[in-house]
Amino acid sequence: MSASLFPQHVIARKRDGEALGREEIAAFVRGAVDGSWADYQLSALLMAIVLRGMTRGEVVAYTEAMMRSGAVADLSSVKWPKADKHSTGGVGDKVSLHLAPMVAACGVAVPMISGRGLGHTGGTLDKLESIPGFRVGLSLDAYRAQVDELGLCLIGQTAELAPADKKLYALRDVTGTVESIPLICGSILAKKLAEGIDVLVLDVKFGRGAFMKEKAKARELAELLVSVANAMGKPTRAVMTAMEQPLGRTVGNALEVIESIECLRGIGPADTMEVTYALGEQMLVLPKAAKDTREARAKLEEGVRSGKALEIFGKMIEAQGGDPRVVDDVGRLPRAKISEPFVAARGGMVADVDAMGVALAALRLGAGRKRAEERVDHAVGVSGLVKVGERVAQGAPLCVVHANDERALEDAKEMLAKAILVGDEAKEGAAVRLVDEVIG
Ligand code: URA
Repeated sequence: MSASLFPQHVIARKRDGEALGREEIAAFVRGAVDGSWADYQLSALLMAIVLRGMTRGEVVAYTEAMMRSGAVADLSSVKWPKADKHSTGGVGDKVSLHLAPMVAACGVAVPMISGRGLGHTGGTLDKLESIPGFRVGLSLDAYRAQVDELGLCLIGQTAELAPADKKLYALRDVTGTVESIPLICGSILAKKLAEGIDVLVLDVKFGRGAFMKEKAKARELAELLVSVANAMGKPTRAVMTAMEQPLGRTVGNALEVIESIECLRGIGPADTMEVTYALGEQMLVLPKAAKDTREARAKLEEGVRSGKALEIFGKMIEAQGGDPRVVDDVGRLPRAKISEPFVAARGGMVADVDAMGVALAALRLGAGRKRAEERVDHAVGVSGLVKVGERVAQGAPLCVVHANDERALEDAKEMLAKAILVGDEAKEGAAVRLVDEVIG
C-alpha cells in the first residue's frame, strides 16, 4: 500500500481540513470491513469528518465505497420499475406498511430493506413482526423472487448489504460522531442504493419527534441526499414533513399495523394519508408510472378504493410466513392485558401533543428499545390519540393506553400528562404544516 493511504496520513489530511481523494476514502471504508484500520483510527477519521465536513464529491465517493463494501442486490431481471421510500424516522410513522402495497397496486415494485433502528418506538421491522409468523429475514434470492412475483418485499438489513456502515455506525454511536450530515447521508444512501432500486423517495422529518429537530439542518440533509443520490445515477426526491405531534392516532407496533390496515381500507387518519400520498405520488412520478402528481394521486386512491392494495398487503404477509387473516381480523394481532383510557382533566382545545413525550411514554410501556439487543413488546402503546386543535370535554379520552404491566401504565400516564395539553387554544408551533416542501 502506498504510504499516502496509511490511516495516520489520511486522518491528518482531514484533520487539517483537506478534501480526501477517492482512493483515500476507499481505503478508509475497506479498512472498516477488513480490519486493516484499527477502531481508534476509524474513530479518529470519523471525528475529523464531523469537525471538518466533506465536499459533495467526497460524500459521493464515501457513499459509493460504503454501498460497494458488500453485495448490491441485482433486480435487473424484475419486470417492474422499482422505487423505495426511506424515512428519517418519526413517532407513529407507520407509512411504509401501507404505502408499499399502495404503490405496488399501481405497477411500481417496492423492494424495501429496513434497519431495526434505535428509535423510541419500534421500527418498520418491529411493526411487521407483530403479525404472527411474519419473517423479515429472507435471503437476497428470496427477496428478488418475491419482488418479481408480488411487487413488494419488506425485509431486514442483511449482513451482506453495506457491512462498512454496520461497523462505522456502531463506532459513531459510541464516539459522539453520529451528528454529521455527510456521514448520515452516506449511511442512509449506501443501504438504500444497495437494494437494487431505480428511484428513491425520502421522507426527511423535522421537529420535536424527528431525528433532525431543526428544520434548516433537515433541509441541508435532504438537499445533500438528493444531490448525492442523483450524482450516483438514481433519480431521487425528498419530501420534508413535520414531526411535532405523532403521525396518526396510534403509537406502538401492533396498534400501528391496525392503523395501516385502516389506511388500506380508506379510513386512515387524515394526517397519515396526507404524508402517504405525498410520498406515493413521487414514487409513481419518478419512474414515469404517472405523468404528474394528480394522476399519481388518482391511481393511488383507486388502489385503495378497489381493495387491490389491501389484497397485496395480505399476499405479502402470507408470502413472508405471516398470518394473512389479520387483514380481516385484527383481533389476531397481539393484545395487551390492560387497555385504559387516559382522560382529559379539563375540557377545551387540545393545545399540544408532544411527539417526543408520547414516544417516551410508549418506550416506558415497552414499545421501543433503549439498547439494540432489547426485545420490544408488540402489543403495548397508545391508540385513539387526539390531535392538536380538536375539542375535548372534561373526562373524555385523550388516548387509550395499552400496557402489560401496572407500574409501566402508571409511569406512562404521568408522561402523557406532560405531553398532551388541553387549554383554550393550540400552542404556537404545535400544529405546523405537515408536508412542507418537495426537494429535487
Ligand atoms: N440513519 C442511518 O441509517 N444512518 C445514520 O447515520 C443516521 C440515521
